[in-house]
Amino acid sequence: MRDVSVVGIGQTKVKEHWSKSLRELATEAILGAMKDGHVDHADALYVGNMLSGELTAQENLGALIADEVGLRGIEAMKVEAACGSGGTALRVGYLAVASGQFDVVIVAGAEKLTESSNCNTTASLAMAADADYEGIHGISFVALNAMLMRRYMHEYDLVPEDFAMFSMNAHANAANNPYAMFQSPITLEQYKRARNVSDPINVMDSSPVGDGAAALILMPTASLNGNRARAIKIAASSVATDSLALHSRRDPLWLSAVELSAQKAYAQARVSPQDIDLFEVHDAFSIMSVMSLEASGFAGRGRGVNLARENEINPKGKLPISTMGGLKARGHPVGATGVYQAAEAVTQLRGEAGANQVPDAHVAMAQSLGGVAANAVTHIFTN
Ligand code: COA
Repeated sequence: MRDVSVVGIGQTKVKEHWSKSLRELATEAILGAMKDGHVDHADALYVGNMLSGELTAQENLGALIADEVGLRGIEAMKVEAACGSGGTALRVGYLAVASGQFDVVIVAGAEKLTESSNCNTTASLAMAADADYEGIHGISFVALNAMLMRRYMHEYDLVPEDFAMFSMNAHANAANNPYAMFQSPITLEQYKRARNVSDPINVMDSSPVGDGAAALILMPTASLNGNRARAIKIAASSVATDSLALHSRRDPLWLSAVELSAQKAYAQARVSPQDIDLFEVHDAFSIMSVMSLEASGFAGRGRGVNLARENEINPKGKLPISTMGGLKARGHPVGATGVYQAAEAVTQLRGEAGANQVPDAHVAMAQSLGGVAANAVTHIFTN
């Protein structure tokens, strides 16, 4: 297998894009990444997306977007793994370059969630759960996470405020990210006063609904001949799975797909959790941040909130997370999110994160989850 590097990144702002279609968002991100990476062609395009058929009546995104960006004829396809679609598209793109199949690959993530009513979007997002055993009861994705959070608080004797710092850190970081949906910090008071969504999850524990696209250009590291100072190596790429339905898990408070994929990634990159300088965590809900920190080996069991409570998750802390706002405040256009996370990790390792720059960042990890971590995709990047 060949080493693979990211040579270009592109992003649109995450927001309610009422005047831009899915294909226009994807095109903006891809052309931005091609310009950033100084490439004018590609051998293949992989597009992470979850709900284009359901919410915008458009499938077959590979061919559609390849044509739109002027690359008609290349291999192109959509990659779907619920909210982990973007990370999974990166995995597919990585394999295509690492295997020697292609020399220039575009990985894009694009999603438009606001085309439809919130009710319809919520019902569509719930398709990431097990339709026969969970969806059939009308449970939303927020509600599934709320059950986990309630159980977690019960087991470890916590109160909702113990989770506040995840949201406060994400909003503070998003304030400096021009691509983020929410660009103002929040206080503890605002967290406490936030309206309830599905008890105990409040609005500040939850990622929002938004539209956006991000893109990456991948090339074999050896072909760069040391000429690309801003290229960032993909040191590890791994995927693992779990049952979709929570009731099928031996221990619902342990994300075993996260553990498996993180362990495989650490082995491939030959690093341990202590070597990770920043972690783009899948903070769709604050309970997911907590459980991901534990299953990835950054915190002991039941101690996932400690790093946040000790104020160690900000860009100058022991383990910076959600460094450009995370899903919580950059926004979570589901199938695009994993590609945003990778673009943000690359930005950090290039030293281009401005006020959010993590000092001496050399190893970054990004993790994208589908369903309640029924899929976990972990990438480790190094400069
Ligand atoms: N955090 C902070 N503010 C939020 C927010 C969030 N998550 N969601 C919405 N808001 C703000 C909006 O910006 C808006 O502010 P404004 O009045 O100043 O313009 C206000 O709240 C109302 O927005 P609206 O879109 O009408 O909110 P809503 O009540 O319909 O939806 C949620 C809020 C949290 C229910 C919705 O964002 C949601 O369902 N999120 C979860 C999505 C999900 O499950 N994703 C998949 C996870 S894997």
